[in-house]
Amino acid sequence: MFTLLVTLLFYLIVIVQGVHFLGGTITWHPLNASATGSPVAIVITQTYSWTYSKITCTNAMIASSQLIPDGGYSYIPTQTLDCISNCASGASGYVAPSIRPYCTDISAPVGTTVSQRSDIVYLYSGDDFSVAFQNKAWRALATAAEATWSISTHFIIKSRSDNGLYNNAPVATMMSPIYIPVNQPTVIHVPVADADGDPMRCRWSTASNGVDECGGVCPPGSLPANTVIYPNCTIVITGTVVGSWYAVTLMVC
Ligand SMILES: *[C@@H]1O[C@H](CO)[C@@H](O)[C@H](O)[C@H]1NC(C)=O
Ligand SMILES: *[C@@H]1O[C@H](CO)[C@@H](O)[C@H](O)[C@H]1NC(C)=O
Repeated sequence: MFTLLVTLLFYLIVIVQGVHFLGGTITWHPLNASATGSPVAIVITQTYSWTYSKITCTNAMIASSQLIPDGGYSYIPTQTLDCISNCASGASGYVAPSIRPYCTDISAPVGTTVSQRSDIVYLYSGDDFSVAFQNKAWRALATAAEATWSISTHFIIKSRSDNGLYNNAPVATMMSPIYIPVNQPTVIHVPVADADGDPMRCRWSTASNGVDECGGVCPPGSLPANTVIYPNCTIVITGTVVGSWYAVTLMVC
């Protein structure tokens, strides 16, 4: 088996760290789907996977909704989901929530801890900005030993032309990591959904348009050669893969 990591992105502190991060997603939606005023309550949901041996939740911790242990990583208790683009003029009302999520699932055999948190922020009509969770030390990849990451989401707070309501961001429901066979053409369909019924499109993340959506794991450098993504969120891998991990960073728009 060869393995593939997915950081589903929607739309760094230099200390010695073990490789502990396995990807995640960030999405958001209005708390009240019918809300029209400004500011409006927006729910931000962060979902992250971690190396179980480093960030170890237990069933008791899941049952009692405990925050993930910091595993000795000093950034986990203190880091926030900071604004990274158009912050001065476009992020009125944004108060960055913590990135430290609650224990939601564990698999000791697979070696993963899954965690999630949802926070409410009050944003103003006209807000248009990006936030990101950025740090370092992915599980060792075929392409990098301790890559940095940047998982971002883009907020656009304005009334939709069709119904006058605020938009819901799409959601990707794939958990990271996933496993695929070595050196066999492989098709991965990323499950995505949109509460407004809007057409959805996937694309690779970039760090070029003023927003860093992928940190040290930007495609195509983070992937086997010739890996293709189609707008319908299908990823096709035909190039040679080695028995190691790869980071897949994509945006759903
Ligand atoms: C949601 O917003 C609508 C429109 O402003 C309002 O009538 C309704 O009471 C709100 N619902 C809740 C649960 O706050
Ligand atoms: C996605 O798009 C590709 C290229 O157009 C197509 O070959 C494939 O069948 C599509 N997959 C799905 C699940 O619609």
